[in-house]
Parts: sequence; C-alpha cells; structure tokens
Amino acid sequence: MSDAIQRVNELRQALNYHNYRYYVENSPEISDIEFDRLMRELQELETAYPELDDPLSPTHRVGSDLSKGFEQARHIYPMLSLGNTYSIDEIDEWVNRTSNSLGGQQFSIVGEMKFDGTSISLIYEHGRLVRAVTRGDGEKGDVVTNNIKAIRSIPLTLQGEGWPEKFEIRGEIVLPWKEFDELNERRAFNEEPLFANPRNAAAGTLKTLDPSEVSRRGLDAYFYYMLGEDLPASCHYDNMAEARKWGFKVSDAMKRLNTVEEVEKYIKYWDKARKDLPVATDGLVFKVDSLRQQLNLGFTAKSPRWAVAYKFAAERALTRLQFVSFEVGRMGIITPVANLEPVKLSGTVVKRASLHNEDIIRQLDIHDHDMLYVEKGGEIIPKIVDVDISSRQTDAKKVKFVSHCPACGSPLCRIEGEAAWVCPNRYACPPQIVGRIEHFVGRRMMNIDGIGEETAQALYDNGLIKDIADLYSLDAQSLLTLDGFGNRSAERVLEGLEASRQVPFERVVFALSIPFVGDTTAKKVARAARDIDTLMGMTIEQLCAIEDVGIKIAESITEYFSSPVNREIVRRLKDAGLQMSMPEDTAAYEHSDVLGGKAIVISGTFTHHSRDEYKSMIEQYGGRNVSSISKKTDYVLAGENMGPAKLEKAANLNIPIIDEDTFLKMSGK
Ligand code: IVH
Repeated sequence: MSDAIQRVNELRQALNYHNYRYYVENSPEISDIEFDRLMRELQELETAYPELDDPLSPTHRVGSDLSKGFEQARHIYPMLSLGNTYSIDEIDEWVNRTSNSLGGQQFSIVGEMKFDGTSISLIYEHGRLVRAVTRGDGEKGDVVTNNIKAIRSIPLTLQGEGWPEKFEIRGEIVLPWKEFDELNERRAFNEEPLFANPRNAAAGTLKTLDPSEVSRRGLDAYFYYMLGEDLPASCHYDNMAEARKWGFKVSDAMKRLNTVEEVEKYIKYWDKARKDLPVATDGLVFKVDSLRQQLNLGFTAKSPRWAVAYKFAAERALTRLQFVSFEVGRMGIITPVANLEPVKLSGTVVKRASLHNEDIIRQLDIHDHDMLYVEKGGEIIPKIVDVDISSRQTDAKKVKFVSHCPACGSPLCRIEGEAAWVCPNRYACPPQIVGRIEHFVGRRMMNIDGIGEETAQALYDNGLIKDIADLYSLDAQSLLTLDGFGNRSAERVLEGLEASRQVPFERVVFALSIPFVGDTTAKKVARAARDIDTLMGMTIEQLCAIEDVGIKIAESITEYFSSPVNREIVRRLKDAGLQMSMPEDTAAYEHSDVLGGKAIVISGTFTHHSRDEYKSMIEQYGGRNVSSISKKTDYVLAGENMGPAKLEKAANLNIPIIDEDTFLKMSGK
C-alpha cells in the first residue's frame, strides 16, 4: 500500500508537470503515448485503491492552456478530451461496449482525422462569428476572436442558408506542414527558438498578441463538431455536411462507416495515406453518428462515451550514440548533434539527429554511448526522444556541452534568457564566415549559380576568399586551382557572379546576414530606406518606424552597420557593382492583377526560374500560391518530376496543369 501511495504521488506530480509543459509552455518533453501511459497507470491505481482518489488528481481534469493577456470566457458546453486507443483490438472493444450500452441497437460510426493542432470553439449568431475561445482548462478559455479573424479559411459570415440562429462549432487550428517549415526556416535564420512540431507552432501562434503575425504565419482550421439547440440534422455526419455548405472547412476524409470491417479498412487506409495530407494528424477519431444515440451514451468526467480516438504509432527506432558533435552556425550558435549508428526509420537511414541545445541534453540525461530512441513524428528532422537507461554502460559519463568554440577556441557566451550558447568571434570564426558565404550565394539571396555549400567551403579553405565581398575578385585562373574545377564550372561561377550584380537591393540586404533580418524584414527595410547609405545611417527610432521592425531588429541593424568590418564589406560590394539602391522606377516591384486572384499550386522543379521566384511572381501578379490541390485550385504550375499523387489528384478534379512557359505568358512576361 505504501508503495502505491508513493507511486500515485509520483505519477500525479509527473502528469501535472507534463500538462504544464504541453498546454502552457507549448513545449512537451514526452510523447503523447508516454503521457497516456502515465495517465493510465494512475487511473488503474486510483481504481484499485479508491481511498487514494483525490478530486484534484490529474485524472479528474483536462489540461489547461490559459495564458495571460487574453480575456477569458466560460464555455457553454465544457470542452472535453477523447479517450485514446492504440490498436484495432481496442477499437473493437469500444464498438462492443457502445453496442451493449445501446442495448444492441444498430448504429453508424463516423470516421475522421484527428488533426494535430489546437482546439477552438467558435460561436455564431445570425450567421456571424461573435466569439472564438481556446479550450483553456475545459471550463473556460481565452477569447482569441481577433486572431481567429486573421485565419482566412474561417468564415466570418456564413454562406448559404439553414444555419441555426445561434450555434457553436468546434475544430482544430492547424499550421500546415509547408507553412510550418517556412516558419521554422525564418526562425532559424533569425536565430529564434524553433517550434518542435506544427501543433506547438499553431498553439503558440494563436496566443500571440499580434493578429498580423497570425495572418502571416498561415494558420488553417478544420471543423469536426457542432453543438446547439436546433441543429439542422439529427446526425453528426449530416450536420458537418451542412457546415461545409456554410463555408467551414470540413475534411473530405470524414466517412460514415457501418461495420467493424469498414472501420478496420478505414484505419489501415489512413495509417498510410495521412502522410500525404498537407497538415499533421496524430490519429483518427470515431464517433457515433446519431445525435440521439450520442445523448443516450453520454459522457464520463473527461470524455464522451460516444467518441474515441485511435492514435497512430510514431515511428521510432533504437540505436547507439557514437558521439556528440558541436556545430557552429552562421550566427555563431552552437548546435549539439547526436551522431548515431545508422538505423532505418520511415524508409530513410538516420545517422544524425539534432539535440538542439544544452537544456535538451540535460533533460534527456544523455551519457556516452547510450542507446537512444529516435523518432520521426512527421517532422522532417529526426529527433531523440528518449534514452534506454537499462542498456547504459556502468562507467558511462554524462555528455558535456563544450565550453569553447570547437572551431576557433573562443570561450562561448550564453545569451541571457536563451538556451543557446554562442561563439562571439563573429568575424574570425571560420564556420561563421563560411556560413555567411553560403547564405549570400543561396538561391533566395544572390542566387550565384555554381557555388554551393562545398564550393563555398573550398574557396575559403584554399584562401581564395575570406568574406562575401572577396567573391567579386575571383577570376578563372584562381577558380581553376580548386579540386574538380574545369573551364566549364569556373565559367558558371563567373556568370553567376555577373548576374548577381542585377539582384535587387532588397535581396542584397537579406544576403548580408544581418541577425534577425529575414527576407520579409529585408524587403521592408530596403523599401523604406531606398539605398544603402541611408540604411547605414538610420537611427533606432527611424528603423522602429518601419512596419514590422521592433527594437530587437532595429538594434541588430545599427549594431551590424556600426562594425567597421561590415562597413568595409558593404563598401567593397558597392564598388563591385551590386544594386545598393531601389530603382528609380519601382514599377517592377509593383503588383499587377493579371492573375485575378487565381489559386495556383506549384509542383516539381523548373528551368527558367526557381520555385521561390515563381511563388513571388504569383503573388506579384495578383494570384494566390496555395500549398495543396483542392476543388478550389485554379491551376497547377508543374515543372519536372511532379509527384504522381498530385498529378492524379489534379486530373481527378479536372484542374488545368500548366508549364512554366504558359505561366510566364499568362503573367504577361
Ligand atoms: S471531437 C468531446 N474530432 O483532439 C470531444 N476532436 O483529444 C470533442 N481533435 O480536444 C472532440 N481532431 O482538439 C474531435 N476530428 C476530431 C478531432 C478532435 C482533433 C482534438 C481536439 C480535442 C482533442 C481530444
């Protein structure tokens, strides 16, 4: 008994902590499966020892995501969670239980995706959105109506007819994979902490106090539950079909299922097919269709009896840590990387996984040569999620973070309040210099053909260049001294350098690697300053007056240009003939409307321009670049190697597929 008391206390403490990490910090330390395992163990102990039950036990509540800065509102109907299952057997058990509770009545089940985002409750009155509230602690949540209005796929006023005078609709706010990757790319560039997964990014975005930031990040929403007094239909499936007509995004994956066999087939199909969806899902949800039967089945304290979640297993593998390397980024940030014995995971061989920062190494308590669990929960970069302590060698030492830069030996600094260690030797630390060169020549910056990561490194290692401005002094003779370089490759580099002299000023500003200045900020700053001399002379106040430039970015810009090294680099780039001002005639940057709001999906690789260039062109000429093919897509701009799944989808929906020449003609180019 005393063992049980101790374990119950441990479990409650652990679950409270992980609830907080998940809902408040948006930064979970353990997987959902692990969390559910702890919760189940606690539930079992509380059932076995009812005298240990406590009304404040984590088993009696749903997690809280309440945060400061938002007004709160009480939910009309509490927002509960779903019971989880992990196997078809458990689903079969739920079906049997439900059948028994319904006294053997026939019933249909609706199968749908379990979207991995953050839940939202919307209230509509007279066809107009009046309030949006997060789940919060299940009883009351944060009012985030203004942020919700920034999500374009959510109807603010309803289409069609037949909506009740007042009703509630619930759904999931998600950040599609593409937007998630772009957001993290921008954050990596700006040296901001990355979001671990789209769920955290969606939750974090919804809680920002700036609706324009919400709008920029590209959140989306799928709806799956309607509540109210006078709903249009007597079953869930039909209500959702109505909601679709009123303008809500309801997933096409939603399906009515009539037998256990159909349920099993649905699970088997979506276990694979979900990988092609544009958004993250972590399972499926099965619901009893009839609202009358739902009412009969009712709720437990935490979840409805009429619905259950089936969680997909995240693919994970166990492998041995060979060593931890410490890598220096363009901005001097030190990233620990786990070098692993190669192991196969979701079809690819994993050899390395980022350990992000010192805090993560400490949390996981990694020791030399530990056996590590690597997971690919849909994220592109595999991550280390756990350690198998039982196979640790007895004399193994804890992995220690380096105190000095592994490249230049400088003592590292830790930025106050942040997890990252940084090498302060900005102008002489080789990987930082090479990183800046790689960035400068990159496709979205100066787009210098012929210089990739390897060539940038070789140019630096061979002493041919020591900063970005040196690139413009390269000649064929020096290039030919590089390993593997012939006339053709040297020519390509020189042509690329020549072409880069025409790259617009705003991209030159982005290419300079000014900390916290990403492509969007660079554009705004360049357009406001109009030329480099003005930009270099701007004060913090003047910079802060530019849209989206806050004090952190302004300080970073003034600091960058106060360095004599940077001023000299800029002077030499100017002498080399780069565009250092906005053209007199800015018509080239002005937007036309020839594409008239058409939704265009880009797929494959192109010859005349890069994908990013086509993306900007679509927007510049008044179209909309969308990430996935749907009924609403107007064209698919297809290059080479367009995926067969996309091709098939476009063909099925009769969406015209155009090539780049056609697109350029359409845009009047
Ligand atoms: S129904 C009373 N349907 O999963 C329960 N929830 O673990 C109503 N979720 O809080 C929820 N996709 O945030 C439902 N198709 C779906 C869902 C879904 C994702 C989320 C939702 C809920 C959580 C429960």
